[in-house]
Amino acid sequence: MTFEYGEFSFASKDEVLAKAREFWNPGKTDFWVEAGVPLVIDRREEYFIYDMSGRRLLDVHLNGGTYNLGHRNPEVVQAVGAAMAHFDIGNHHFPSLARTALAEALVETAPPGLRKVVYGSGGGEAIDIALKTARHATGKRRIVSVIKAYHGHTGLAVSTGDERFSKLFLSDQPEDFPHVPFNDLAAMEDVLRARDVAAVLMETIPATYGFPLPEPGYLEGVKRLCERYDALYIADEVQTGLMRTGELWGITKHGFAPDILVTGKGISGGMYPISAVLVAEHAAGWLTEDGFGHISTFGGAELGCIAALKTLEICNRPETRSMVHYISDLVGRGLREIQADYPDWFVGIRQNGVVLGLEFDHPQGAKHVMRHLYENGVWAIFSTLDPRVLQFKPGILMRPELCEDLVDRAGVAIGKARAEIRGAGRPSRAAHSGRRVPA
Ligand SMILES: Cc1ncc(COP(=O)(O)O)c(C=O)c1O
Repeated sequence: MTFEYGEFSFASKDEVLAKAREFWNPGKTDFWVEAGVPLVIDRREEYFIYDMSGRRLLDVHLNGGTYNLGHRNPEVVQAVGAAMAHFDIGNHHFPSLARTALAEALVETAPPGLRKVVYGSGGGEAIDIALKTARHATGKRRIVSVIKAYHGHTGLAVSTGDERFSKLFLSDQPEDFPHVPFNDLAAMEDVLRARDVAAVLMETIPATYGFPLPEPGYLEGVKRLCERYDALYIADEVQTGLMRTGELWGITKHGFAPDILVTGKGISGGMYPISAVLVAEHAAGWLTEDGFGHISTFGGAELGCIAALKTLEICNRPETRSMVHYISDLVGRGLREIQADYPDWFVGIRQNGVVLGLEFDHPQGAKHVMRHLYENGVWAIFSTLDPRVLQFKPGILMRPELCEDLVDRAGVAIGKARAEIRGAGRPSRAAHSGRRVPA
């Protein structure tokens, strides 16, 4: 099968894989082939992606929420396409129509007190901006994060995350970036007590760790400790923002406003890279002292601002909120039914809206389920920092029939993965309830 597009053509998928290995990234290419997911995404629309072979997959990875609104959402495509007749990336040194309009829209829909917006081009850069902002505002250097947190791979962000990524490039700095266990307020207080911490950086639900839910009162307790020990609270809402929890920003469900909030991924509408940091006035001093303190040519690119404005408007529609509640009920109920069939294998469902982590009783369980889902027409990714847990992230506009199809396919794949690991046992509900086994 030949594949041709504009300036390039490939004779076969094997040729793409061989050249990806040769010219792009051998480690990644081999990893996916060996994991049984030799995916080369070609066509994409709504919540579907198509492998080069033509095989269709329902996407519930969504690149961490980048495709919350679906792939190539027609309203976002229209907005960005039309904007290309007038805008380009813009000149990041000057005030701009699009950047100002987006900043105002973000502030208007932000938790109270967040009054300034700084732009980046991706989540990692936005985290770096947030950390620099906190250091400037407090005059302190240390940043506390959670063990197995994931905030990106840029200069400062990578030091807040797992050693697997920081050590590779000699960026582990335990003195300046202490890590504490999640859901442990005593450990948090111990690290804050010396009052030498600029900020606590918290994913509202740690994504790459498999979405373990914060215990009731934990995040609120962290915020109180931040206030007691003069540290700022930075909410990383890169994966939990933009209505995925049924609220525009997941942190607002905890009843407090952070000092700094970071958004990325989905704010791009999946069409043009952009990220943003929302900052409370009391932390935003550097923007007045030296507005050139953070410079980024592509940060706040004007076409990205147009994509983000449309995305924000769609997320804020009342019908979008209702849809998220509907989808999370339907998918949650379906998954609980499947779990009842395999209680020894499918041991946990972590859910807040359409943020879902599915827990399996095997150290690599989610990798097996991922492969069986792939073979059954669904693309969902295991959690890198806890491969027992599958990230399961339905889109916020997913049609009810797609949700039902998703649950059916998940039931089949979870049963097959169990049989592979445990040997054939009890038949799955799909087999005895006549659920359609997907092709
Ligand atoms: C919670 C969280 N924060 C930050 C990032 C970094 O975003 P990016 O990959 O756009 O740099 C990610 C990426 O997965 C993320 O999941």
